[in-house]
Order: sequence, then C-alpha cells, then structure tokens
Amino acid sequence: MTGTKTFEIAPSAARLTGSLRDIGYDFPTAVADLVDNSVTANASRVNIYTQFEPNGSYVLISDDGDGMTERELVEALRFGSRRSYDRNELGRFGLGLKTGSFSQCRRLTVVSRTAPKRTIFNVMTLDLNRISRTDRWDITVDETSPAIERAKDLLRESPGTVVVWEDLDRVLPERYAESGWGRRRLRTLASKTAEHLAMVFHRFIAGDVRDRPEVVICVDDEKLRPWDPFAPAERERSVLAPQVFEIETNNGSSEVTFRGVVLPARDRFSSIEEFDRLSGPQKWNRQQGFYIYRADRLVQHGGWSGIRGIDEHTKLARAALEFDTDLDEAFQINVAKMSVELPPVLRQMLERPVHELCVLADDAYRRSANAGDRAQSSGKSSKASDVALRDVGIALKAALLEDRSLPEFKAAVATMRTRHPELAERLGL
Ligand SMILES: Nc1ncnc2c1ncn2[C@@H]1O[C@H](COP(=O)(O)OP(=O)(O)OP(=O)(O)O)[C@@H](O)[C@H]1O
Ligand SMILES: [Mg+2]
Repeated sequence: MTGTKTFEIAPSAARLTGSLRDIGYDFPTAVADLVDNSVTANASRVNIYTQFEPNGSYVLISDDGDGMTERELVEALRFGSRRSYDRNELGRFGLGLKTGSFSQCRRLTVVSRTAPKRTIFNVMTLDLNRISRTDRWDITVDETSPAIERAKDLLRESPGTVVVWEDLDRVLPERYAESGWGRRRLRTLASKTAEHLAMVFHRFIAGDVRDRPEVVICVDDEKLRPWDPFAPAERERSVLAPQVFEIETNNGSSEVTFRGVVLPARDRFSSIEEFDRLSGPQKWNRQQGFYIYRADRLVQHGGWSGIRGIDEHTKLARAALEFDTDLDEAFQINVAKMSVELPPVLRQMLERPVHELCVLADDAYRRSANAGDRAQSSGKSSKASDVALRDVGIALKAALLEDRSLPEFKAAVATMRTRHPELAERLGL
C-alpha cells in the first residue's frame, strides 16, 4: 500500500524509565530477576553482596556465567532486549535487568567478561539521572567508581557478569543513607533476599533440575541452603500420586503436573527446629497451598489461587504445580515473575485433587491435635501401635481417594465406621 501516513512515536526515555520503576518488585524479587539471568547464562555460582558505605552504598550481583560481548551487552541494556528464547529459558520480556534494577537504584552498571584467557571487561552504565536530563536512551561506557572496580576484581580470574546497583534511592532514602538505620535496613534486606532466593531457586541450589549441575548462591558470603516446601527428608509426610493435566496452547498443548503432599504435623516432624524452618517466610497457615514452578523456578509460593481459602485445619497441605514456558501466556506470567493466574480450565480440573489433598491434610491435623489431647489427658504419649495404625489409615485414604469419587470415598469410610467402629477410630477414619 502506498500513501499511508505514519508517525514514529518513540517513547520519552525520561518519562518511561521513571514509570517503569514501579511495576511491583521489592528488593528480594528484583535480585531474583537478576539471578534468573545468571542461571540462564549457565552460572554455577552467584554471589550477592550488599555493601553499606556512608557515601555510597551499593549492591553487586555477580556470576561466573558466559558473560556478554560488547554487542550483547548493548542489547542487554535495551528496554525490551531483542532476542529469541529457547523453551524453558527463564527470561521472556527483555526487561528484567533494567526494570528489576531501577526498582531499587538510579544507576545500573553491568561489567562483563567473556574471554577466558584475557582480562578484558565490557563496562556499560544506564543512569536515570542522565536519562531524565537528556531524555535519551543512552548508555555510557567505562564509567568507574569503587563499586565498579570491585566488580572488575570479582572477574579477574574468569569470565562472568557483575551487575552493579548504585545510588540506591529506593533502598536507602537520602536522609537515612548515612545512618545506623540505613546500615540495619540493608542488612535486613540482605537476609530477606537470602530467604527468598533459597526458596524460589531451591531446585537449582539442590541440583534437582534435569540436565543442569547445582548452582551455588551466596548472599554476603553465606551459602544458601535450599528451602524446599515439600520437606523431602521428612519420613512422616504423605506424598500423593502426581496428576498430569493437558492444557491447550496456540501451538498444540502442554502439560501441568500437580503433586500433592501432606506434611507431618508438629509432633511428627523430625524435630521442632525443622518444623519451624519449614514454616516458611509467611508461616504455616499462609504457606499452605500451591507452589507454582515455571521451568523449575518458583513463581508463586502458597495460597490456593481462589480455589479455596486459607484454613488452619489444612495448613499441612502443599501442592507443586509445574508448567513449561509454553504455557506462559495461559498462566499470564508477569514481568517481575512473582505471580501467575491459573488458566480457567486448569482451575476446574484442580478442584477435586485440591479437595482430596485437603481432606487428608485436615485429617492429619486433627489426628495430631487429638493425639496431643489424649496424651495430655492420660499423662502419657500415644502407643506406638496406634501411631502405626494411623499411618495405615492415611495410606488407605490416599489409595481410596486416588481412584474413587469423593461421595464414594465418604461412603466407604461410613461403612467402615458402622461395621468396625473401634478399628475405624484407631485407623483415624
Ligand atoms: N548475568 C548475565 N549474563 C549473561 N547475559 C545476561 C545476563 N543478564 C542479562 N543478560 C542478557 O541480557 C538480556 C536482557 O536481560 P533482561 O533480564 O532485561 O531480559 P530477559 O532476561 O531476556 O527477559 P525478562 O524480562 O523476562 O527477564 C538477556 O536476555 C541476556 O541475553
Ligand atoms: Mg531476565
């Protein structure tokens, strides 16, 4: 067609970079978005350093991944990096490096090295003060500062990338930047970040991701221990058989796997310390529910996504939901990769397995409460044979629920209670 009149309307750099600062990150989730990049670049080690300095605190996120050439680094700093993605790559929008960083700081520098034998660095900076002054999408090259020099030092031995955050206006507002409060705040954020990363990357840290060696993540030199919501080492947990659901996409279909687990109640955990540790950042009640994994990285932790409410009685129920990046659109993954929406068709399919899981979790909770009451009233702990029988009861219920509808399950339990009331009681039915 000829004669179509067009105007190019490139966005205002000053306005857009300002508004993109507020798209929902907090400090830990912003760091996690950068760790995604490191993991994608095949890093085996990621270090996060938070450095409090009265005249210029900074944060470094360093990795020993593939690094970036000059051209790649220029593209990496573009809002909406131009590139394609392999299946199950963690990146998707070409934004995280910039939006995550600017949610916390005003000056982002990336130092990167690709050559294994030569210590040559590419150093590029995006500075919000400069952008708002010039209203141009300009990168400056070879800036320097104590933080940038330290970043180079981290890459002296081998290739990799270090992201440098300076002018931390969102972390340490100016009037507090030099105070003890500021120092404490940075320390608190570092420990929240450690907790968050240990959770969202637990499969990567534990070496549970297929075809990839484990990733070591350290925050301020402390190596993270994976926080697996399903407590795989606990012997008293009940693991339900996985269920796989097929979801249609534009190009065919892709699978979502549901894995339900009932965690042991407090008195059946291997230790009180472990029970407390497994309680998680939001504590037992709010940590019940779905743990949604996108390509093995957690994007939602806890809550039932509207399928049911949070309930004290079902706090031992947790369920992994795993999907591939083919289903990104169906799950409406967001830039900050912090939450998803369940596709409506999946929501329907999940109602029954979630209900079944919660029946078992409720049961485990009540039995534990009863056991506690009985032990208290009789002044002694419940007998080992009763404990064993209750285990049989749980296994029996899980098996019944697996191939029967809920009304059938309830009918079978009612029959058992009528015919063998005492045994049913001891089985916990
Ligand atoms: N630590 C790193 N090592 C190597 N390359 C990196 C690193 N960080 C970023 N990159 C490159 O920069 C690009 C842009 O990163 P950015 O996080 O902005 O977007 P993305 O990862 O592609 O997508 P998303 O917005 O979903 O995170 C990446 O696609 C990658 O090619
Ligand atoms: Mg990214």
